[in-house]
Amino acid sequence: MVGGVEEHLTVGRVAELAGVTVRTLHHYDEIGLVRPSARTAGGYRAYAAGDVERLREVLAYRRLGFGLREIADLVDDPATDAVAHLRRLRGLLLEQRDRAAAMVTAIDRELEARAMGISTPPEEQLRVFGAQLYEAIGSAYPATRRTEPRIAAKVWEALGDARTVLNVGAGTGSYEPPDRDVTAVEPSAVMRAQRPAGAAPCVAASAESLPFEDQSFDAAMAFSTVHHWQDPIAGLREMRRVARRVVVFTYDASTTGWLERFWLTRDYLPEFAGLLTEWPSLADLTRAIGGRAEPVLVPWDCADGFFEAYWRRPEAYLDEDVRRAVSVWTRVGARAEKRAVDALRADLDSGRWAERNRDLVALDSAELGLRLLVA
Ligand SMILES: C[S@@+](CC[C@H](N)C(=O)[O-])C[C@H]1O[C@@H](n2cnc3c(N)ncnc32)[C@H](O)[C@@H]1O
Repeated sequence: MVGGVEEHLTVGRVAELAGVTVRTLHHYDEIGLVRPSARTAGGYRAYAAGDVERLREVLAYRRLGFGLREIADLVDDPATDAVAHLRRLRGLLLEQRDRAAAMVTAIDRELEARAMGISTPPEEQLRVFGAQLYEAIGSAYPATRRTEPRIAAKVWEALGDARTVLNVGAGTGSYEPPDRDVTAVEPSAVMRAQRPAGAAPCVAASAESLPFEDQSFDAAMAFSTVHHWQDPIAGLREMRRVARRVVVFTYDASTTGWLERFWLTRDYLPEFAGLLTEWPSLADLTRAIGGRAEPVLVPWDCADGFFEAYWRRPEAYLDEDVRRAVSVWTRVGARAEKRAVDALRADLDSGRWAERNRDLVALDSAELGLRLLVA
């Protein structure tokens, strides 16, 4: 509105603003996709505010690769209002961004591998393109990733008396409580496909844009996933929005002390520190949900093969299956991975590892920076 009069945009002006040709706009008009419903003072056809809103949706879906016929169905759906379109578009764009990020990771990995004279098998070359990180590595996940009952018990206790639970970044659902009404959210099709028969229903969405109304669940949980989100703070705020209680299992990246404490990062894989630079601090994470953090010790025989799980079973890290089920190894790149594994193997063979880590044998559990955030 300008001075109380609604401003209509001419076809030429719209074309200029949106970066499309006038011909495209005429075509959309002819096929009934977006019609300029107003008239300028001079009698020319012009776009009213509602037309511009519709055009914006059409152009956004177009940019995401939808065909015009599909777009017509989408924008004509009376059940989807402008806000719902924006939410859906946002989710689709985030997915596209994730896919691009995963492609960059895959390309970096292959470049490093090539530099070392290692060739990437054709199957892997194909799998990584057009996929999110978990689309690329997710199929290796079930080999070693499963419920650790002692940690699960803590998570479930923190859920309190929640009856309805949203599990965000649910993966294969290892920590979903069996006795509650669970809804899962998981953006990776590979991970969704690996959910066991009878697992809770799973929605394809990302934490940053949860497709649920405010306060739809008694509790929302997230296990070992926050560090994968493009925007952890936005994702946690979303969890807070849709649920009354929030429970998050994550890693304290605010101090480098944990890197020193865990022999794997201290002596073999210092590159892990580089992955943490963009992680929000524990204080920021806790603030986003308005809760508290408590340490979670890792049992020496931890059943879930996450990164820290084998702190007292170092030989496990020599196993390719163990490493492929943990994204850290893919993220640090092939060169760092090979160097770390070779050095560890040598130290295990020579007895140097045992000598350096003598104290660990007496411990049943270790404090390695894992935290349960509860709000
Ligand atoms: C290490 S797995 C953990 C899976 C599961 N919570 C568990 O403990 O077995 C991390 C999961 O986070 C998912 N993820 C990645 N980005 C996400 C996002 N933006 N929102 C929600 N989940 C995401 C991945 O696809 C993957 O399934």
